[in-house]
Amino acid sequence: MKKKYKMSDHQRSVMLNTGSQMPLVGLGTFKLRGIENIMLTVDAALAAGYRHFDTAAVYRNEVEIGKALRELLPKHGLSRADIFVTSKLGPRDQGHMTPEACQRSLDQLGLEYIDLFLVHWPGTQGLRVEDPQNSANRAQSWMALEEFHSCGKFRAIGVSNYTVRHLEELLASCKVAPAVLQVEFHPRLVQGELRALCAQREVCFQAYSSLGTGALLSDPAVLEVAKGCGRTGAQVLLRWAVQQGVPVLPKSCNPSRVQENGQLFDFELTQEDMEKLTGLDKGLRFCWDPTSVA
Ligand code: A2P
Repeated sequence: MKKKYKMSDHQRSVMLNTGSQMPLVGLGTFKLRGIENIMLTVDAALAAGYRHFDTAAVYRNEVEIGKALRELLPKHGLSRADIFVTSKLGPRDQGHMTPEACQRSLDQLGLEYIDLFLVHWPGTQGLRVEDPQNSANRAQSWMALEEFHSCGKFRAIGVSNYTVRHLEELLASCKVAPAVLQVEFHPRLVQGELRALCAQREVCFQAYSSLGTGALLSDPAVLEVAKGCGRTGAQVLLRWAVQQGVPVLPKSCNPSRVQENGQLFDFELTQEDMEKLTGLDKGLRFCWDPTSVA
């Protein structure tokens, strides 16, 4: 029987359409650089209970993330199987370069398998956004990801920054359906159409930039909800997502904020607070807009 994407019983992970569990909270590592800083941050994350680490070829930290995990897992009494690692294909490696780039991510991380590997961006670096070759390259890249999935090197595969159009195109042509769509998601960008498509096609919808890259932390409505429940604005924004079953990837290079961002399961937002936050939607992006990529 086909396995369904759904919240698991303990509510701290989601089941992907592959049947494996993905922790609801992961450490985002964009801008995390330098081995000392990375060791400190990964150590804080493991101590705070994070079991999910999200990197990418373009973050240029796969080597250090891999080293930090190898060295720190034993300290926390953990092994490879206890954690979930995501990486992503860089936009310059779309098309015929993809197989080499997939193996490079495995080698740089020093892992025999990656839990989830995503196409990072629908376009190819160096092509104009309207160039139809973007679409041909995406299709070729996806076939390479399917190969790595079928030989067990990528336990799950998915996409990031795809719009409804890009995702529908993929769903119509793929042999292996994407397990995850990772996109910008917060109360100012609730992505209704994309979420509905993901729910319908059993693709796990995952959020990045839940804090609006930090900009939403000073939003008066967020501050009001935070005051009302005695939590920080960051916790309120992250809880708003996980309470809807949406996995989050808070980024922080600061150990105490890493800990704060992981404390999301000992409180609940009221229905009224959830609606107040969702009502802030303005279709506003703080990150990159993939809409015009052909
Ligand atoms: P820092 O690394 O100094 O903690 P997003 O995940 O929406 O892209 O936001 C990331 C930004 O938010 C980073 O600049 C990060 O800075 C900041 N940030 C992350 N967590 C918190 C927090 N709990 N409180 C305040 N700022 C935070």
